[in-house]
Amino acid sequence: MSFAVASGAYLHHLELESGDPAALADFYGRAMKMKAERFGVGFIPSPSPLFDKRAFAVQDPEGNRMAFGLADKPLDVIRRRGPIHAPLQHVTVTSTNMAAIEDFYANKLGFAVSDRVRNDAGAVSTVFLRCNHEHHTVAIFLKSEAGLDHHSYEAGEWGTIKDWADHLGGMRIPIVWGPGRHGPGNNLFIFIKDTDGNMIEISAELEVIHDRPVKEWKHEPYTLNMWGPAIMRS
Ligand SMILES: [Fe+2]
Repeated sequence: MSFAVASGAYLHHLELESGDPAALADFYGRAMKMKAERFGVGFIPSPSPLFDKRAFAVQDPEGNRMAFGLADKPLDVIRRRGPIHAPLQHVTVTSTNMAAIEDFYANKLGFAVSDRVRNDAGAVSTVFLRCNHEHHTVAIFLKSEAGLDHHSYEAGEWGTIKDWADHLGGMRIPIVWGPGRHGPGNNLFIFIKDTDGNMIEISAELEVIHDRPVKEWKHEPYTLNMWGPAIMRS
């Protein structure tokens, strides 16, 4: 049997380019009983030099551009352990409109919501979203201004965080928050700042989710930060 037949591959979808996509969608809806799905997301060219030209990007409601591309090496090679280990794992941005930005990532891009944190007024103050089994790939904090909150590197184990702390201590780079354990995601953490003042997190033991309902948290310091120094967020 040929390789293609043995693999059981099938035609999953096809893409038609058209000068009048609305008319085409209407036709397929009426004639072929297909359901038009409008994702409402405009693709923009990928701004990243690290992906090839097949990559594309989207812009979220706060103006953050997120590029999607194919890695040139498998994930286990990209995340191969070095002397001390911590590959990039998540990014946290701030938003003034939590409903709009959650709608964008969850409903337009198809990320899964892992956890939400609500403030005393019941409004969502943090949402954690994932595009794989790691608890969050993107997290969003409610703030009065949109921007970058921090980016995080997953060290895997507590002992590796200690190695990082020894390394940073040797460089006289202060730990500005932590060690501690977050509530949502259950990860251990330390934070440092880069030379521009951006917060960098080194994390370990981040929750892996295969199937569970969205968890809702109350915005209380002991639920957000299970142990460690008092929470820094305003
Ligand atoms: Fe984080």
